[in-house]
Amino acid sequence: MRLSLLLILFASLSASAQPKQADAEGHPWWQHAVFYEIYPRSFADSNNDGIGDLRGINSKLDYLHWLGVDAIWISPMFPSPQVDFGYDVSDYENVDPVYGTLADMDQLIGSGKKEKINIILDFVVNHTSDKHPWFIESASSRNNPKADWYIWRDGKDGGPPNNWTSTFGGSAWKMLSPRNQYYYHYFYAGQPDLNWRNPAVEKAMFDVTRWWYKRGVAGFRLDAVDTMFEDPSLKDNPPDDNKKNAYGDQVYNEIYNKKLPEMHTALQRLRKVADEYNAVLIGETWTKNIKELNEYYGPVLNELQLPMNFMFTQINKVSAPEFRKQIAFADSVSGWPVWVLSNHDIRRVYDRYGNGKDNDKIAKMLAGLYMTLRGTPIMYYGEEIGMENNDPKRVEDVMDPIGKLGWPKEKGRDGERTPMQWNTNTNAGFSTAKPWNPVGPRYAQYNVATEQKDPNSILNWYKQVIALRKSNPALLEGKYIPLNEDDDNVLAYLRSYKDQNVLVVLNMSGEQHKVKFDLAAKGVKGKSAKTLAVSFKAPATSTLDSISLEPYGAYIAQVE
Ligand code: GLC
Ligand code: CA
Repeated sequence: MRLSLLLILFASLSASAQPKQADAEGHPWWQHAVFYEIYPRSFADSNNDGIGDLRGINSKLDYLHWLGVDAIWISPMFPSPQVDFGYDVSDYENVDPVYGTLADMDQLIGSGKKEKINIILDFVVNHTSDKHPWFIESASSRNNPKADWYIWRDGKDGGPPNNWTSTFGGSAWKMLSPRNQYYYHYFYAGQPDLNWRNPAVEKAMFDVTRWWYKRGVAGFRLDAVDTMFEDPSLKDNPPDDNKKNAYGDQVYNEIYNKKLPEMHTALQRLRKVADEYNAVLIGETWTKNIKELNEYYGPVLNELQLPMNFMFTQINKVSAPEFRKQIAFADSVSGWPVWVLSNHDIRRVYDRYGNGKDNDKIAKMLAGLYMTLRGTPIMYYGEEIGMENNDPKRVEDVMDPIGKLGWPKEKGRDGERTPMQWNTNTNAGFSTAKPWNPVGPRYAQYNVATEQKDPNSILNWYKQVIALRKSNPALLEGKYIPLNEDDDNVLAYLRSYKDQNVLVVLNMSGEQHKVKFDLAAKGVKGKSAKTLAVSFKAPATSTLDSISLEPYGAYIAQVE
Protein backbone atom coordinates (compact mmCIF):
# COMPACT_ATOMS: atom_id res chain seq x y z
CA MET A 1 0.00 0.00 0.00
CA ARG A 2 2.68 2.47 1.10
CA LEU A 3 4.89 1.46 -1.78
CA SER A 4 2.15 1.94 -4.37
CA LEU A 5 1.40 5.37 -2.96
CA LEU A 6 5.05 6.26 -3.20
CA LEU A 7 5.17 4.98 -6.74
CA ILE A 8 2.18 7.10 -7.71
CA LEU A 9 3.75 10.12 -6.08
CA PHE A 10 7.02 9.50 -7.88
CA ALA A 11 5.28 8.99 -11.23
CA SER A 12 3.31 12.20 -10.89
CA LEU A 13 6.36 14.17 -9.81
CA SER A 14 8.49 13.03 -12.72
CA ALA A 15 5.69 13.46 -15.25
CA SER A 16 5.06 17.04 -14.24
CA ALA A 17 8.68 18.08 -13.76
CA GLN A 18 8.38 21.83 -14.11
CA PRO A 19 11.13 24.34 -14.76
CA LYS A 20 13.00 25.69 -11.80
CA GLN A 21 10.99 28.29 -9.92
CA ALA A 22 13.57 31.05 -9.75
CA ASP A 23 17.24 31.90 -10.03
CA ALA A 24 19.56 32.81 -7.15
CA GLU A 25 18.21 36.35 -7.05
CA GLY A 26 14.61 35.17 -7.03
CA HIS A 27 13.70 35.90 -10.65
CA PRO A 28 11.35 33.30 -12.12
CA TRP A 29 12.58 31.71 -15.36
CA TRP A 30 10.05 33.44 -17.59
CA GLN A 31 11.37 36.90 -16.70
CA HIS A 32 14.70 36.20 -18.35
CA ALA A 33 13.41 33.97 -21.11
CA VAL A 34 13.05 34.69 -24.80
CA PHE A 35 9.71 33.33 -26.01
CA TYR A 36 9.06 32.33 -29.61
CA GLU A 37 5.67 31.77 -31.18
CA ILE A 38 5.33 28.84 -33.56
CA TYR A 39 2.38 28.55 -35.93
CA PRO A 40 2.45 24.76 -36.21
CA ARG A 41 0.96 24.54 -39.72
CA SER A 42 3.85 26.60 -41.02
CA PHE A 43 7.00 25.70 -39.12
CA ALA A 44 8.32 22.37 -40.41
CA ASP A 45 6.61 19.49 -42.19
CA SER A 46 8.05 16.10 -41.15
CA ASN A 47 5.73 13.83 -43.15
CA ASN A 48 5.63 15.95 -46.30
CA ASP A 49 1.91 16.46 -46.59
CA GLY A 50 2.34 20.21 -46.99
CA ILE A 51 1.31 21.06 -43.41
CA GLY A 52 3.72 21.54 -40.53
CA ASP A 53 3.54 19.19 -37.54
CA LEU A 54 4.89 18.42 -34.07
CA ARG A 55 7.68 16.16 -35.28
CA GLY A 56 8.70 18.98 -37.57
CA ILE A 57 8.92 21.32 -34.57
CA ASN A 58 10.86 18.67 -32.66
CA SER A 59 13.41 18.42 -35.46
CA LYS A 60 14.07 22.17 -35.18
CA LEU A 61 14.54 22.49 -31.43
CA ASP A 62 18.31 22.42 -31.88
CA TYR A 63 18.01 25.45 -34.16
CA LEU A 64 15.90 27.28 -31.58
CA HIS A 65 18.39 26.40 -28.88
CA TRP A 66 21.20 27.72 -31.08
CA LEU A 67 19.26 30.96 -31.53
CA GLY A 68 18.80 31.35 -27.77
CA VAL A 69 15.08 30.68 -27.44
CA ASP A 70 13.96 29.48 -23.99
CA ALA A 71 10.29 28.77 -24.55
CA ILE A 72 8.03 28.13 -27.51
CA TRP A 73 4.36 29.01 -27.60
CA ILE A 74 2.68 26.69 -30.08
CA SER A 75 -0.55 28.02 -31.60
CA PRO A 76 -3.42 25.51 -31.25
CA MET A 77 -2.51 21.98 -32.33
CA PHE A 78 -5.60 20.35 -30.79
CA PRO A 79 -8.17 18.40 -32.81
CA SER A 80 -10.14 20.95 -34.76
CA PRO A 81 -12.34 21.31 -37.84
CA GLN A 82 -9.86 24.13 -38.69
CA VAL A 83 -12.56 26.70 -39.41
CA ASP A 84 -10.24 29.24 -37.77
CA PHE A 85 -7.07 27.19 -38.34
CA GLY A 86 -7.13 25.54 -34.94
CA TYR A 87 -8.72 28.29 -32.85
CA ASP A 88 -11.87 26.17 -32.96
CA VAL A 89 -11.00 23.27 -30.66
CA SER A 90 -13.06 20.08 -30.66
CA ASP A 91 -10.99 18.26 -28.00
CA TYR A 92 -8.66 20.07 -25.58
CA GLU A 93 -6.88 16.91 -24.49
CA ASN A 94 -5.51 15.57 -27.72
CA VAL A 95 -3.50 16.45 -30.83
CA ASP A 96 -5.03 16.94 -34.27
CA PRO A 97 -3.90 14.05 -36.53
CA VAL A 98 -2.66 16.66 -39.01
CA TYR A 99 -0.06 17.67 -36.43
CA GLY A 100 0.68 14.20 -35.03
CA THR A 101 -0.22 12.31 -31.89
CA LEU A 102 -0.13 12.74 -28.13
CA ALA A 103 3.00 10.59 -28.17
CA ASP A 104 4.60 13.16 -30.50
CA MET A 105 3.66 15.89 -28.04
CA ASP A 106 5.18 13.94 -25.15
CA GLN A 107 8.30 13.51 -27.19
CA LEU A 108 8.42 17.21 -27.99
CA ILE A 109 8.08 18.05 -24.30
CA GLY A 110 10.87 15.57 -23.56
CA SER A 111 13.20 17.01 -26.23
CA GLY A 112 12.34 20.46 -24.92
CA LYS A 113 13.70 19.45 -21.52
CA LYS A 114 16.98 18.37 -23.15
CA GLU A 115 17.31 21.55 -25.18
CA LYS A 116 16.11 23.68 -22.22
CA ILE A 117 13.09 24.88 -24.15
CA ASN A 118 9.80 25.07 -22.28
CA ILE A 119 6.59 24.26 -24.11
CA ILE A 120 3.67 26.69 -23.85
CA LEU A 121 0.33 25.72 -25.36
CA ASP A 122 -2.41 27.98 -26.63
CA PHE A 123 -5.57 27.74 -24.53
CA VAL A 124 -8.68 28.88 -26.36
CA VAL A 125 -10.78 29.89 -23.37
CA ASN A 126 -13.64 31.87 -24.84
CA HIS A 127 -15.11 29.28 -27.20
CA THR A 128 -14.90 25.73 -28.44
CA SER A 129 -15.62 24.39 -31.89
CA ASP A 130 -19.28 23.71 -32.68
CA LYS A 131 -18.06 20.13 -33.24
CA HIS A 132 -16.86 19.80 -29.63
CA PRO A 133 -18.90 17.07 -27.85
CA TRP A 134 -19.83 19.67 -25.19
CA PHE A 135 -21.52 21.84 -27.79
CA ILE A 136 -23.15 18.94 -29.61
CA GLU A 137 -24.71 17.84 -26.33
CA SER A 138 -25.61 21.40 -25.37
CA ALA A 139 -27.34 21.93 -28.72
CA SER A 140 -29.32 18.69 -28.55
CA SER A 141 -32.17 19.98 -26.33
CA ARG A 142 -33.05 22.70 -23.86
CA ASN A 143 -32.70 20.43 -20.84
CA ASN A 144 -29.65 18.21 -21.38
CA PRO A 145 -26.92 18.19 -18.69
CA LYS A 146 -24.81 20.67 -20.72
CA ALA A 147 -27.75 22.84 -21.83
CA ASP A 148 -26.23 25.80 -19.99
CA TRP A 149 -22.58 25.35 -21.07
CA TYR A 150 -22.92 27.91 -23.87
CA ILE A 151 -24.85 31.18 -24.26
CA TRP A 152 -28.30 30.25 -25.56
CA ARG A 153 -31.22 32.68 -25.81
CA ASP A 154 -34.59 33.01 -27.45
CA GLY A 155 -34.84 35.48 -30.30
CA LYS A 156 -36.47 38.89 -30.04
CA ASP A 157 -38.98 40.42 -32.47
CA GLY A 158 -38.30 37.74 -35.06
CA GLY A 159 -34.53 38.28 -34.95
CA PRO A 160 -31.52 37.60 -32.71
CA PRO A 161 -31.59 38.50 -28.97
CA ASN A 162 -29.65 41.77 -29.43
CA ASN A 163 -27.41 43.80 -31.75
CA TRP A 164 -24.08 42.21 -30.81
CA THR A 165 -21.87 41.54 -33.82
CA SER A 166 -19.19 38.96 -34.45
CA THR A 167 -15.71 40.41 -34.80
CA PHE A 168 -15.46 38.21 -37.89
CA GLY A 169 -18.54 39.80 -39.50
CA GLY A 170 -22.33 39.75 -39.18
CA SER A 171 -24.54 39.03 -36.17
CA ALA A 172 -22.94 37.20 -33.24
CA TRP A 173 -26.03 34.99 -32.93
CA LYS A 174 -27.02 31.90 -34.85
CA MET A 175 -30.36 30.09 -34.67
CA LEU A 176 -30.16 26.33 -34.28
CA SER A 177 -32.74 23.57 -34.23
CA PRO A 178 -33.82 21.44 -32.41
CA ARG A 179 -33.43 23.93 -29.54
CA ASN A 180 -34.84 26.66 -31.74
CA GLN A 181 -32.71 29.11 -29.87
CA TYR A 182 -29.84 31.34 -30.77
CA TYR A 183 -26.31 30.67 -29.55
CA TYR A 184 -23.73 33.39 -29.19
CA HIS A 185 -20.41 33.40 -31.06
CA TYR A 186 -18.08 36.39 -30.80
CA PHE A 187 -15.91 34.83 -33.52
CA TYR A 188 -17.15 32.49 -36.32
CA ALA A 189 -20.40 30.57 -36.02
CA GLY A 190 -18.13 27.50 -35.73
CA GLN A 191 -16.76 28.99 -32.47
CA PRO A 192 -19.62 29.12 -29.92
CA ASP A 193 -18.83 31.05 -26.73
CA LEU A 194 -18.63 29.02 -23.54
CA ASN A 195 -20.74 30.13 -20.59
CA TRP A 196 -18.11 30.94 -17.98
CA ARG A 197 -20.84 31.80 -15.45
CA ASN A 198 -21.50 28.08 -15.19
CA PRO A 199 -19.15 26.60 -12.52
CA ALA A 200 -19.14 23.27 -14.37
CA VAL A 201 -17.58 25.00 -17.40
CA GLU A 202 -14.95 26.62 -15.22
CA LYS A 203 -14.11 23.31 -13.60
CA ALA A 204 -13.87 21.47 -16.93
CA MET A 205 -11.64 24.17 -18.40
CA PHE A 206 -9.39 24.39 -15.34
CA ASP A 207 -9.01 20.61 -15.43
CA VAL A 208 -7.78 20.86 -19.02
CA THR A 209 -4.86 22.96 -17.81
CA ARG A 210 -4.07 20.48 -15.01
CA TRP A 211 -4.11 17.65 -17.53
CA TRP A 212 -1.46 19.38 -19.63
CA TYR A 213 0.64 20.59 -16.68
CA LYS A 214 0.89 16.97 -15.57
CA ARG A 215 2.24 16.11 -19.02
CA GLY A 216 5.01 18.67 -18.54
CA VAL A 217 3.66 21.76 -20.27
CA ALA A 218 5.15 24.90 -18.68
CA GLY A 219 2.21 27.25 -19.19
CA PHE A 220 -0.40 28.65 -21.53
CA ARG A 221 -0.98 31.55 -23.80
CA LEU A 222 -4.63 32.42 -23.17
CA ASP A 223 -6.57 33.25 -26.29
CA ALA A 224 -9.01 36.16 -26.52
CA VAL A 225 -9.51 36.51 -22.76
CA ASP A 226 -11.42 39.78 -22.98
CA THR A 227 -14.38 38.01 -24.57
CA MET A 228 -14.85 35.44 -21.78
CA PHE A 229 -17.89 37.07 -20.16
CA GLU A 230 -21.02 38.76 -21.40
CA ASP A 231 -23.48 40.90 -19.49
CA PRO A 232 -26.42 38.59 -18.70
CA SER A 233 -28.88 41.42 -19.36
CA LEU A 234 -27.84 41.20 -23.03
CA LYS A 235 -28.35 44.94 -23.49
CA ASP A 236 -27.68 46.31 -26.96
CA ASN A 237 -24.22 47.81 -27.47
CA PRO A 238 -24.23 51.52 -28.36
CA PRO A 239 -23.14 52.32 -31.94
CA ASP A 240 -19.72 53.94 -32.37
CA ASP A 241 -20.81 56.94 -34.46
CA ASN A 242 -21.37 55.91 -38.04
CA LYS A 243 -18.24 53.79 -38.21
CA LYS A 244 -18.30 50.74 -40.48
CA ASN A 245 -15.81 47.86 -40.38
CA ALA A 246 -14.16 46.06 -43.32
CA TYR A 247 -17.21 43.84 -43.70
CA GLY A 248 -19.53 46.84 -43.98
CA ASP A 249 -21.09 46.26 -40.52
CA GLN A 250 -21.89 49.10 -38.13
CA VAL A 251 -19.19 49.30 -35.43
CA TYR A 252 -20.38 49.25 -31.79
CA ASN A 253 -18.77 50.09 -28.48
CA GLU A 254 -18.65 46.59 -27.06
CA ILE A 255 -19.36 47.52 -23.49
CA TYR A 256 -21.70 44.62 -22.71
CA ASN A 257 -19.75 41.74 -24.22
CA LYS A 258 -16.08 42.54 -23.64
CA LYS A 259 -13.70 43.16 -20.75
CA LEU A 260 -16.27 42.46 -18.06
CA PRO A 261 -14.77 42.53 -14.53
CA GLU A 262 -15.75 38.87 -13.95
CA MET A 263 -13.02 37.91 -16.42
CA HIS A 264 -10.35 39.10 -13.98
CA THR A 265 -11.59 37.06 -11.05
CA ALA A 266 -11.89 33.97 -13.25
CA LEU A 267 -8.32 34.48 -14.49
CA GLN A 268 -7.15 34.86 -10.90
CA ARG A 269 -8.67 31.48 -10.10
CA LEU A 270 -7.00 30.01 -13.19
CA ARG A 271 -3.73 31.45 -11.90
CA LYS A 272 -4.18 29.58 -8.62
CA VAL A 273 -4.29 26.36 -10.61
CA ALA A 274 -1.20 27.43 -12.55
CA ASP A 275 0.61 28.15 -9.30
CA GLU A 276 0.02 24.57 -8.15
CA TYR A 277 2.24 23.57 -11.07
CA ASN A 278 4.57 26.54 -11.13
CA ALA A 279 3.26 27.39 -14.58
CA VAL A 280 3.21 30.70 -16.43
CA LEU A 281 0.17 32.39 -17.97
CA ILE A 282 0.55 34.70 -20.94
CA GLY A 283 -2.47 36.69 -22.06
CA GLU A 284 -3.75 37.82 -25.40
CA THR A 285 -4.66 41.09 -23.76
CA TRP A 286 -5.73 43.89 -26.04
CA THR A 287 -5.73 47.00 -23.89
CA LYS A 288 -6.29 50.68 -24.54
CA ASN A 289 -4.07 51.99 -21.80
CA ILE A 290 -1.77 51.05 -18.94
CA LYS A 291 -4.58 51.02 -16.41
CA GLU A 292 -6.27 48.23 -18.36
CA LEU A 293 -2.98 46.40 -18.81
CA ASN A 294 -2.25 46.61 -15.08
CA GLU A 295 -5.62 45.04 -14.33
CA TYR A 296 -4.46 41.89 -16.08
CA TYR A 297 -1.51 41.54 -13.70
CA GLY A 298 -4.04 41.40 -10.86
CA PRO A 299 -4.36 43.62 -7.78
CA VAL A 300 -1.49 41.82 -6.05
CA LEU A 301 0.15 40.37 -9.17
CA ASN A 302 -2.08 37.35 -8.78
CA GLU A 303 -3.49 37.19 -12.30
CA LEU A 304 -1.40 36.82 -15.48
CA GLN A 305 2.37 36.90 -15.17
CA LEU A 306 2.76 37.99 -18.79
CA PRO A 307 -0.15 39.95 -20.26
CA MET A 308 0.95 40.96 -23.74
CA ASN A 309 1.46 44.64 -24.37
CA PHE A 310 -0.22 45.11 -27.74
CA MET A 311 -0.05 48.88 -27.54
CA PHE A 312 3.49 48.38 -28.78
CA THR A 313 2.24 46.64 -31.93
CA GLN A 314 0.06 49.64 -32.75
CA ILE A 315 3.08 51.80 -33.52
CA ASN A 316 3.11 51.42 -37.25
CA LYS A 317 6.03 53.63 -38.10
CA VAL A 318 9.66 53.85 -37.14
CA SER A 319 9.52 56.84 -34.84
CA ALA A 320 11.73 57.60 -31.86
CA PRO A 321 9.11 59.74 -30.05
CA GLU A 322 6.38 57.12 -30.53
CA PHE A 323 8.49 54.24 -29.28
CA ARG A 324 9.84 56.35 -26.41
CA LYS A 325 6.33 57.14 -25.29
CA GLN A 326 5.09 53.54 -25.43
CA ILE A 327 8.20 52.18 -23.71
CA ALA A 328 7.75 54.65 -20.86
CA PHE A 329 4.13 53.51 -20.46
CA ALA A 330 4.95 49.83 -20.56
CA ASP A 331 7.99 50.18 -18.31
CA SER A 332 5.70 51.63 -15.64
CA VAL A 333 3.40 48.58 -15.39
CA SER A 334 2.83 46.98 -12.02
CA GLY A 335 4.21 43.60 -13.10
CA TRP A 336 6.91 42.43 -15.47
CA PRO A 337 6.69 44.06 -18.95
CA VAL A 338 6.09 42.00 -22.09
CA TRP A 339 7.23 43.07 -25.56
CA VAL A 340 5.49 41.89 -28.70
CA LEU A 341 6.06 43.19 -32.22
CA SER A 342 3.90 40.82 -34.22
CA ASN A 343 2.14 37.48 -34.30
CA HIS A 344 -0.12 35.29 -36.44
CA ASP A 345 -2.82 38.00 -36.49
CA ILE A 346 -0.61 41.03 -37.18
CA ARG A 347 1.40 42.04 -40.24
CA ARG A 348 5.02 41.04 -40.01
CA VAL A 349 7.54 43.50 -38.62
CA TYR A 350 9.61 43.42 -41.78
CA ASP A 351 7.00 45.11 -43.93
CA ARG A 352 5.07 46.92 -41.21
CA TYR A 353 8.12 49.04 -40.45
CA GLY A 354 10.18 48.56 -43.61
CA ASN A 355 10.43 51.43 -46.10
CA GLY A 356 11.26 49.21 -49.07
CA LYS A 357 14.97 49.97 -49.14
CA ASP A 358 16.30 49.78 -45.58
CA ASN A 359 14.18 46.88 -44.37
CA ASP A 360 17.08 44.72 -43.23
CA LYS A 361 18.60 47.55 -41.21
CA ILE A 362 15.24 48.40 -39.70
CA ALA A 363 14.61 44.75 -38.79
CA LYS A 364 17.96 44.63 -36.97
CA MET A 365 17.39 47.93 -35.24
CA LEU A 366 14.03 46.74 -33.91
CA ALA A 367 15.60 43.51 -32.66
CA GLY A 368 18.15 45.71 -30.91
CA LEU A 369 15.21 47.49 -29.32
CA TYR A 370 13.01 44.78 -27.94
CA MET A 371 15.78 42.42 -26.90
CA THR A 372 17.29 45.16 -24.75
CA LEU A 373 14.22 46.43 -22.92
CA ARG A 374 13.37 45.45 -19.36
CA GLY A 375 10.88 42.64 -19.74
CA THR A 376 10.14 39.49 -21.68
CA PRO A 377 10.18 39.53 -25.51
CA ILE A 378 7.87 37.24 -27.45
CA MET A 379 9.18 36.68 -30.97
CA TYR A 380 7.18 35.44 -33.93
CA TYR A 381 8.74 32.66 -36.03
CA GLY A 382 10.60 33.92 -39.07
CA GLU A 383 11.05 37.42 -37.69
CA GLU A 384 14.68 36.49 -36.99
CA ILE A 385 15.38 35.91 -40.69
CA GLY A 386 13.46 38.90 -42.02
CA MET A 387 10.40 37.06 -43.27
CA GLU A 388 7.82 39.33 -44.82
CA ASN A 389 4.09 39.11 -45.41
CA ASN A 390 3.09 37.25 -48.53
CA ASP A 391 -0.50 38.34 -48.92
CA PRO A 392 -2.87 36.65 -51.36
CA LYS A 393 -3.13 38.55 -54.62
CA ARG A 394 -6.62 37.33 -55.57
CA VAL A 395 -9.66 36.72 -53.45
CA GLU A 396 -9.87 33.13 -54.84
CA ASP A 397 -6.57 32.38 -53.11
CA VAL A 398 -7.60 33.58 -49.64
CA MET A 399 -7.91 30.86 -47.00
CA ASP A 400 -8.58 32.88 -43.86
CA PRO A 401 -12.37 33.37 -43.76
CA ILE A 402 -12.07 36.98 -42.58
CA GLY A 403 -10.14 37.70 -45.78
CA LYS A 404 -12.81 36.04 -47.91
CA LEU A 405 -15.49 38.14 -46.29
CA GLY A 406 -13.56 41.38 -45.99
CA TRP A 407 -11.70 41.39 -49.34
CA PRO A 408 -10.17 43.68 -50.48
CA LYS A 409 -10.20 45.92 -47.39
CA GLU A 410 -9.35 42.97 -45.15
CA LYS A 411 -7.11 40.46 -46.92
CA GLY A 412 -7.05 38.08 -43.97
CA ARG A 413 -4.08 36.71 -42.08
CA ASP A 414 -2.64 34.17 -44.53
CA GLY A 415 0.17 36.57 -45.43
CA GLU A 416 1.80 36.50 -42.01
CA ARG A 417 1.41 32.71 -41.68
CA THR A 418 3.54 31.48 -44.59
CA PRO A 419 5.97 28.54 -44.24
CA MET A 420 9.19 29.05 -42.32
CA GLN A 421 12.13 29.51 -44.68
CA TRP A 422 14.82 27.01 -43.81
CA ASN A 423 17.06 26.84 -46.86
CA THR A 424 17.24 27.31 -50.63
CA ASN A 425 15.62 23.95 -51.48
CA THR A 426 12.17 23.66 -53.03
CA ASN A 427 9.53 25.20 -50.78
CA ALA A 428 12.31 26.71 -48.67
CA GLY A 429 12.98 23.31 -47.10
CA PHE A 430 9.65 23.46 -45.28
CA SER A 431 8.19 20.46 -47.13
CA THR A 432 8.72 18.49 -50.31
CA ALA A 433 4.98 18.69 -50.96
CA LYS A 434 3.10 21.80 -52.02
CA PRO A 435 2.75 23.84 -48.81
CA TRP A 436 -0.75 24.68 -47.57
CA ASN A 437 0.15 28.38 -47.84
CA PRO A 438 2.63 29.63 -50.47
CA VAL A 439 6.23 30.30 -49.44
CA GLY A 440 7.37 33.93 -49.57
CA PRO A 441 8.98 34.90 -52.91
CA ARG A 442 12.33 35.92 -51.44
CA TYR A 443 13.17 32.75 -49.56
CA ALA A 444 16.33 32.08 -51.59
CA GLN A 445 17.93 35.05 -49.86
CA TYR A 446 16.03 35.07 -46.55
CA ASN A 447 16.38 31.63 -45.01
CA VAL A 448 18.06 30.05 -42.02
CA ALA A 449 20.85 28.16 -43.83
CA THR A 450 21.97 31.11 -45.95
CA GLU A 451 21.79 33.56 -43.08
CA GLN A 452 23.64 31.30 -40.67
CA LYS A 453 26.63 31.53 -43.02
CA ASP A 454 26.52 35.31 -43.30
CA PRO A 455 27.93 37.08 -40.23
CA ASN A 456 26.00 40.23 -41.14
CA SER A 457 22.62 38.59 -41.57
CA ILE A 458 19.51 39.52 -39.63
CA LEU A 459 19.62 36.03 -38.12
CA ASN A 460 23.15 36.34 -36.77
CA TRP A 461 22.30 39.75 -35.38
CA TYR A 462 19.34 38.30 -33.49
CA LYS A 463 21.51 35.51 -32.18
CA GLN A 464 24.18 37.93 -31.05
CA VAL A 465 21.76 40.29 -29.31
CA ILE A 466 19.89 37.45 -27.61
CA ALA A 467 23.17 35.98 -26.35
CA LEU A 468 24.24 39.40 -25.09
CA ARG A 469 20.94 39.93 -23.33
CA LYS A 470 21.20 36.60 -21.58
CA SER A 471 24.72 37.10 -20.35
CA ASN A 472 24.37 40.72 -19.27
CA PRO A 473 22.74 41.40 -15.88
CA ALA A 474 22.05 45.04 -16.78
CA LEU A 475 20.08 43.96 -19.85
CA LEU A 476 18.20 41.31 -17.89
CA GLU A 477 17.42 43.25 -14.77
CA GLY A 478 18.53 46.84 -15.12
CA LYS A 479 16.32 49.86 -14.67
CA TYR A 480 15.22 51.57 -17.87
CA ILE A 481 16.53 55.15 -17.97
CA PRO A 482 15.54 57.16 -21.05
CA LEU A 483 18.20 59.52 -22.45
CA ASN A 484 18.09 62.57 -24.74
CA GLU A 485 14.32 62.57 -24.61
CA ASP A 486 13.96 65.50 -27.00
CA ASP A 487 15.73 63.73 -29.84
CA ASP A 488 13.23 63.09 -32.66
CA ASN A 489 15.50 60.71 -34.53
CA VAL A 490 17.53 58.70 -32.09
CA LEU A 491 16.03 56.60 -29.31
CA ALA A 492 18.51 56.08 -26.49
CA TYR A 493 18.38 54.62 -23.02
CA LEU A 494 20.45 53.15 -20.27
CA ARG A 495 19.87 49.84 -18.60
CA SER A 496 21.30 50.23 -15.18
CA TYR A 497 21.89 47.49 -12.64
CA LYS A 498 24.06 47.87 -9.54
CA ASP A 499 27.26 49.44 -10.92
CA GLN A 500 26.75 48.23 -14.48
CA ASN A 501 25.33 50.45 -17.18
CA VAL A 502 24.51 49.45 -20.70
CA LEU A 503 23.79 52.13 -23.26
CA VAL A 504 21.40 51.38 -26.12
CA VAL A 505 21.28 53.82 -29.02
CA LEU A 506 18.90 53.27 -31.93
CA ASN A 507 18.84 55.50 -34.95
CA MET A 508 15.19 55.58 -36.02
CA SER A 509 15.88 57.70 -39.06
CA GLY A 510 17.26 57.24 -42.55
CA GLU A 511 20.11 59.74 -41.99
CA GLN A 512 23.42 59.52 -40.19
CA HIS A 513 23.44 61.10 -36.75
CA LYS A 514 26.02 62.05 -34.15
CA VAL A 515 24.84 61.94 -30.56
CA LYS A 516 26.30 62.71 -27.17
CA PHE A 517 25.26 61.82 -23.66
CA ASP A 518 25.57 63.56 -20.34
CA LEU A 519 25.27 60.60 -18.01
CA ALA A 520 26.53 62.52 -14.99
CA ALA A 521 23.12 64.22 -15.00
CA LYS A 522 21.64 60.73 -14.48
CA GLY A 523 24.04 59.99 -11.65
CA VAL A 524 26.09 57.63 -13.77
CA LYS A 525 29.87 57.79 -13.86
CA GLY A 526 31.82 56.92 -17.00
CA LYS A 527 33.05 58.76 -20.08
CA SER A 528 33.45 56.08 -22.67
CA ALA A 529 31.40 53.35 -24.24
CA LYS A 530 32.80 49.93 -25.01
CA THR A 531 30.92 48.36 -27.90
CA LEU A 532 28.97 45.20 -27.06
CA ALA A 533 27.03 44.89 -30.29
CA VAL A 534 26.60 47.18 -33.24
CA SER A 535 24.64 46.65 -36.45
CA PHE A 536 27.08 48.68 -38.59
CA LYS A 537 30.85 49.23 -38.64
CA ALA A 538 31.90 51.18 -35.56
CA PRO A 539 34.98 51.60 -33.39
CA ALA A 540 35.41 49.26 -30.40
CA THR A 541 35.31 52.22 -28.03
CA SER A 542 33.69 55.64 -28.34
CA THR A 543 33.56 58.62 -26.05
CA LEU A 544 30.14 59.60 -24.76
CA ASP A 545 30.71 63.05 -26.32
CA SER A 546 30.37 61.73 -29.81
CA ILE A 547 28.84 58.54 -31.07
CA SER A 548 28.23 58.23 -34.82
CA LEU A 549 25.30 56.27 -36.03
CA GLU A 550 24.53 54.93 -39.46
CA PRO A 551 20.94 55.20 -40.80
CA TYR A 552 18.71 52.84 -38.81
CA GLY A 553 21.78 51.66 -36.90
CA ALA A 554 21.66 49.95 -33.52
CA TYR A 555 24.48 50.44 -31.05
CA ILE A 556 24.78 48.70 -27.67
CA ALA A 557 27.69 49.47 -25.38
CA GLN A 558 28.97 49.12 -21.84
CA VAL A 559 29.55 52.46 -20.09
CA GLU A 560 33.01 52.65 -18.54
C1 GLC B 1 -7.27 35.19 -31.15
C2 GLC B 1 -6.32 34.45 -32.06
C3 GLC B 1 -6.86 34.50 -33.45
C4 GLC B 1 -8.19 33.81 -33.47
C5 GLC B 1 -9.14 34.40 -32.42
C6 GLC B 1 -10.30 33.51 -32.17
O1 GLC B 1 -7.36 36.53 -31.46
O2 GLC B 1 -5.03 34.98 -31.95
O3 GLC B 1 -5.98 33.93 -34.38
O4 GLC B 1 -8.77 33.92 -34.74
O5 GLC B 1 -8.52 34.57 -31.17
O6 GLC B 1 -9.92 32.38 -31.44
CA1 CA C 1 -17.53 34.80 -24.37
